[in-house]
Amino acid sequence: MDWMEIMKARHSVRRFTEAPLREDAVAAIRAELDACNRGSGLNMQLILEEPEAFQAEKPHYGSFEGCKNYLALVGPKGRDEAVGYYGERVVLAAQAAGVNSCWVALTYKKGKAKIHVPTGEVCYMVIALGYGKSQGSARKTKTAEQVGDLSPNAPNWYRRGLEAVLLAPTAMNQQRFRFALEGDRVRAKPGWGFYTKVDLGIAKLHFELGSGRSADLWV
Ligand SMILES: Cc1cc2nc3c(=O)[nH]c(=O)nc-3n(C[C@H](O)[C@H](O)[C@H](O)COP(=O)(O)O)c2cc1C
Repeated sequence: MDWMEIMKARHSVRRFTEAPLREDAVAAIRAELDACNRGSGLNMQLILEEPEAFQAEKPHYGSFEGCKNYLALVGPKGRDEAVGYYGERVVLAAQAAGVNSCWVALTYKKGKAKIHVPTGEVCYMVIALGYGKSQGSARKTKTAEQVGDLSPNAPNWYRRGLEAVLLAPTAMNQQRFRFALEGDRVRAKPGWGFYTKVDLGIAKLHFELGSGRSADLWV
């Protein structure tokens, strides 16, 4: 899988066609979801053909249109970074299967969503899924120097990691995190603000995929 190409192709999509998700796409998303739940202790749930959370029967709800499928990011409290990391793994698996997405913390109807939240767990947010009316578009981004310490002799894997970080979705496109090279490893810190730990988890997955390094690269 060329993850860099998949990360480049992914943009937030909020307007969806009527078409239900194809069986092969659902199977690919479920396979990644199950692997992520097993590996993380999260309780993420795929909810299909459910129009209530995004009021899909109405022409517009917020900036969303026609969204009937979503991933509910449920899990124990205090797992914000894991929610970002594993949620984005499912987002990229969906993108690879031709399914568009958008992370959604605020603009969905929580009370109407058919999400099962066991006692002691919380629903952090959802990810809208479907076939977009368009593939979305590139947006404004910070530079690599703004999110990471970048000396002239920084290794190529680190530069590629930062390039992939800039492609990561973040709440309100805030891109508030900081990466620094420490020997052969990397320290990553969230900035201050809403959802910055979730954003950091998403960005760390992008860094791993862009750099080709595994999770043991983190200080
Ligand atoms: C944690 C998180 C929460 C988000 N919440 C919302 C939301 O409530 N409503 C919305 O329309 N977009 C939401 N987004 C989507 C961001 O606005 C979008 O990812 C960002 O503008 C970057 O654009 P891109 O995804 O096309 O790269 C959220 C994204 C993240 C990562």
